[in-house]
Amino acid sequence: MNFHNKIVLVAGGTGGLGREVTRAFLEAGASVVVTYRRAEEFAAVMSAAERTGATPPEGVAADVTDPAAVEKVVADIVAKHGRIDILVNAVGGYAGGTSVWEVDPRIYDQMLQLNLKAGFILARAIVPVMIRQNQGWVVNIASKAALDHAAGGGLYAASKAGALALFDSLAAEVKPYNINVNSVLPSIIDTAANRKAMPGANFSKWPKPEEIARVILFLCSEQARVIHGAAIPVYGKT
Ligand SMILES: NC(=O)c1ccc[n+]([C@@H]2O[C@H](COP(=O)([O-])OP(=O)(O)OC[C@H]3O[C@@H](n4cnc5c(N)ncnc54)[C@H](OP(=O)(O)O)[C@@H]3O)[C@@H](O)[C@H]2O)c1
Repeated sequence: MNFHNKIVLVAGGTGGLGREVTRAFLEAGASVVVTYRRAEEFAAVMSAAERTGATPPEGVAADVTDPAAVEKVVADIVAKHGRIDILVNAVGGYAGGTSVWEVDPRIYDQMLQLNLKAGFILARAIVPVMIRQNQGWVVNIASKAALDHAAGGGLYAASKAGALALFDSLAAEVKPYNINVNSVLPSIIDTAANRKAMPGANFSKWPKPEEIARVILFLCSEQARVIHGAAIPVYGKT
């Protein structure tokens, strides 16, 4: 896939999945801007690019649940590059292991902020740019948990189900434009954080972030224009 001349924003582009999405777009010739919060995560992405001689991404520190911060990120990208072709939202987080009646209400806020509000704030700032240019692709990373509501993960599942609904509505709204909106649904991904959290698991069964990144790139290609408003499972055989 060739993404030369494409301007890509990967929110959470330094995370376990996000950094592979970033790498894949860069390898395919795109100009990539990542948002991050922790400077050391961005530094790790930059030094990995340096080690391999790959083109590094641009980085901007921003809390993507903050509308003013996101509007500034978007305005700065448009001022510099003139457009934003692709948004991948890889911001999110998990909290679980507790029955609904035992969950601290602060977890409710955290899950909805990370898994639902971030995507909303990003979409409301970027989709108008895509409408103006009559071109765009949006991929939101949801989760298998959006459909499969297991015990002990109620707030996570609710936040991801909300995100799925939000991007589904957005997909219906942008039908008049040349903009594609889809969600992808990972289950457990083979990230360093998951290996650390579940040292006894069989890692070989877990989809690799780079495998999911390839699906995301395809969804953001002209070849995938026919896929719109979909929730794509990317959990292999787990
Ligand atoms: N890992 C899995 O097994 C799994 C399974 C199903 C679904 N997912 C979903 O896949 C997506 C990526 O997961 P992941 O494993 O890559 O997670 P991750 O490693 O924790 O990465 C999340 C990224 O989001 C950033 N972030 C968090 N809060 C933010 C905020 N308020 N503003 C800006 N950036 C923020 C983090 O930045 P900092 O690190 O700098 O804070 C990090 O770069 C998430 O939506 C997750 O729910 C993951």
